[in-house]
Amino acid sequence: MTHKHVFHISHAHKKIGQDGNLPFWIAMIRASQKVLLPNKARKVLDFGCGQGKFLPVFALMDRLEFGLGVELEVGLVEEAKIHYEQKNIQYAVNERTLFKSYPEYFDAIYSQEVLYTLEDLKAHAEEMFKILKKGGFYFATMGCHIQNPLWSKRRKMIREEEQYSAYDYSLEEVAEVFFNAGFEVGLKRLPVDYFLIYHPEITQKFSNSLSDLVSTNYENKMLFSFWKPDE
Ligand SMILES: C[S@@+](CC[C@H](N)C(=O)[O-])C[C@H]1O[C@@H](n2cnc3c(N)ncnc32)[C@H](O)[C@@H]1O
Repeated sequence: MTHKHVFHISHAHKKIGQDGNLPFWIAMIRASQKVLLPNKARKVLDFGCGQGKFLPVFALMDRLEFGLGVELEVGLVEEAKIHYEQKNIQYAVNERTLFKSYPEYFDAIYSQEVLYTLEDLKAHAEEMFKILKKGGFYFATMGCHIQNPLWSKRRKMIREEEQYSAYDYSLEEVAEVFFNAGFEVGLKRLPVDYFLIYHPEITQKFSNSLSDLVSTNYENKMLFSFWKPDE
């Protein structure tokens, strides 16, 4: 199965198994293909890659020349390396000097629900600007923002249960920070085609109900595009 064939979600299941975030990764890739130049092999960064499943899915749906997944949590990077590392997909712990080796290197950067975990968004925006090629895009999903009515519930849970932090940002704040770093900033709802998956505990805990899970995703899960001008 290559990108030349029609993508079916079963191909992703075969590669990475079932995962509640799969509909979001696919949606992000599809939305990005509407603005990225078609039929070009891409160098891609997955920032805050977690278990590293995004890049293998990307390779099924697009042309991946090289993919780098970067994560703070060492254990997750080790896991990603074991399961998904291959010649054109690598994983690394995000250390302070890591990105110095990648000036104007990436065609596209993706981050799925990572922005709200970052304390210094300005430094992040400036760093991503430096490592993107001119004319490149950074795509970032964000459901965790203060305009989401479920945010206070989710923030409490994340702060209690996760290793990473949770900061309060509005969509406007994020837009302003990236605009000031030099990006053209775009925003839309993340168009999710696939089914959101019910779980007897997590759905209730994270979203109140299945119906709220669907409506909050439709209404509040956003996709930013940050474009680095070509000149
Ligand atoms: C909500 S999780 C999302 C994980 C993954 N993107 C996904 O779609 O499942 C946020 C991730 O960002 C990572 N993260 C937070 N700050 C980071 C940083 N400065 N550099 C790299 N990863 C970071 C966290 O460790 C966490 O794994």
